Amino acid sequence: MNTTSNRAIPGPFVDESAQECPDCLVGANAQIDPDVILGYRYPGDSQPTRIGDHAIIRSGSIIYANTTIGHRFQCGHQVLIRGEIVIGDRCVVHHKCTLEGRLKIGNGVKIMAHVYVPSRTTIGDFVFIGPGTTFLNAKHPMREGTVQGATIEEHVCIGGGVTICPGVRIGRGSFIAAGAVVNKDVPPNTLAMGVPARHQPLPPNIPPENLLEQLLPQTDLFGAQQDETWKTENWTPS
Ligand SMILES: CC(C)(COP(=O)(O)OP(=O)(O)OC[C@H]1O[C@@H](n2cnc3c(N)ncnc32)[C@H](O)[C@@H]1OP(=O)(O)O)[C@@H](O)C(=O)NCCC(=O)NCCS
Repeated sequence: MNTTSNRAIPGPFVDESAQECPDCLVGANAQIDPDVILGYRYPGDSQPTRIGDHAIIRSGSIIYANTTIGHRFQCGHQVLIRGEIVIGDRCVVHHKCTLEGRLKIGNGVKIMAHVYVPSRTTIGDFVFIGPGTTFLNAKHPMREGTVQGATIEEHVCIGGGVTICPGVRIGRGSFIAAGAVVNKDVPPNTLAMGVPARHQPLPPNIPPENLLEQLLPQTDLFGAQQDETWKTENWTPS
């Protein structure tokens, strides 16, 4: 692959072999649209963008240098993923999401469209994030300098239009109702609902884990790809 810093990759390409360029290393069988920028350079960067095998990256997306993404990554249109981010295997980031720098995202995470994730946020394995959700990392912005990202433990399900306040920890298996404003830590296996969110134990109709068959197949609604390999892979928490 032949590219110049901060110029679009001249896709589309689908290639059996690993791709290599000065600013990015992309694994085998990648499908990368036109107008994708991989390895976007910034002052102080030191590493290329690294992306595993079987990536699907849609037009208009930009992924910065110093970011590492696992296998079977799927990315919608106009997604911005900035530097110093580590993303596990089998993650999906839908269109127009913004992931600011310095994040850690586990395996099998699905992020729906129009989600904003600021720096210092940590997202565990098998988490679902509904559309239009906003994470925050500064409690008194412009009035003091503290930055505190949220921590989302594994198997959390976050509904659409939720606001997650700075520094909040959401415990394993919890479910956040649509539209909630979560301003306090949520214990594991809790339903959080309302503004500000009130907590109650998960009701019997909400199981304590997200379904892997919903999170892990790399299925492209508008493409031919139907992937069953997740069934035979060995999943160990990141
Ligand atoms: C919270 C939620 C799980 C409750 O669903 P449920 O268990 O089937 O419960 P119900 O719809 O019967 O609602 C139970 C009560 O909670 C209230 N409620 C439901 N959703 C609510 C919400 N998002 N915020 C505040 N209250 C809510 C209902 O009004 C009802 O109150 P009532 O008992 O006083 O009448 C569901 O409404 C929800 O928000 N799911 C997330 C959907 C989403 O964002 N998906 C994103 C992917 S597309």
